[in-house]
Amino acid sequence: MSKTLIPKILKAVFPVGGMGTRFLPATKAIPKEMLPVVDKPLIQYAVEEAYEAGIRQMIFVTGRHKRAIEDHFDAAYELEAELEAANKMALLDVVRSIKPDDMDCIFVRQPRALGLGHAVLCAENLVGNEPFAVLLADDLMVGEPPVLKQMIQSFATAPGTVLAVQDVPREHTRRYGIVSVQGQRAYSPVDAIVEKPAPDVAPSTLGVAGRYILSPGIFQSIRAQPRGVGGEIQLTDGIAGLIGHEPVYSLRYTGTRYDCGSKEGFLQATIDLALANPELADSVREHMRAALKE
Ligand code: G1P
Repeated sequence: MSKTLIPKILKAVFPVGGMGTRFLPATKAIPKEMLPVVDKPLIQYAVEEAYEAGIRQMIFVTGRHKRAIEDHFDAAYELEAELEAANKMALLDVVRSIKPDDMDCIFVRQPRALGLGHAVLCAENLVGNEPFAVLLADDLMVGEPPVLKQMIQSFATAPGTVLAVQDVPREHTRRYGIVSVQGQRAYSPVDAIVEKPAPDVAPSTLGVAGRYILSPGIFQSIRAQPRGVGGEIQLTDGIAGLIGHEPVYSLRYTGTRYDCGSKEGFLQATIDLALANPELADSVREHMRAALKE
């Protein structure tokens, strides 16, 4: 029996052009993706997740005021020289490991914030004709193996477009792309996807988290859609256009998603990751006990 060749996912796209208005005033002069959870900016968590899934080409779709992201993934000559001179080797490692030598970072501008689908289209020439990952840094995912790796493992069993999904409360369907799927398996074909439906018309309560593997057919499909919810060019509508023409799957991943685009989610991530950090856990626990007693 001949085996079909499963394409490898070599490239990840990070749409980071958004304004971050929900975090004003913090995001007036710094990109929201640079807000740190404990000691690492959100974008670094997403890039590490892609790297751990075997991806080495990171494509950032940026906008004005996003220079800090480029600087973060660039060498910092003076800082590194000073740390070396002071023999602070552990810190030097921390700084250098942000961009391993075998990782490439490529930046492309999204000239206007016309929506997530539009941001993905801005990466078309850099992606070319191969399947690729999209990671929304606002969604901090904690999973073992990392969520994107789980998706790539499923993709290897049945390739296609893959959406990471989780059950969400029905009253929250307006926050997500919502899918309906065939069958009960963790990795199931998707029948339909709708962007941010009202609870009474949502086809299910399976919400899309900010992790996608997309077939290159997505570019044509996004272009073929009219403007969607909020007058934006929606990725969800492009995915809906693929259904029936190409395989689209959803994966109920194992792990936790923190919606770091909201203050609640950001604080929850901060607390959980601090409690998971051996250097901080004891003092944070002690502080929380004391604070809750007051
Ligand atoms: C975007 C997508 C939505 C998805 C969500 C995941 O929405 O449009 O389909 O469920 O990310 O975080 P946003 O949160 O950017 O409004």
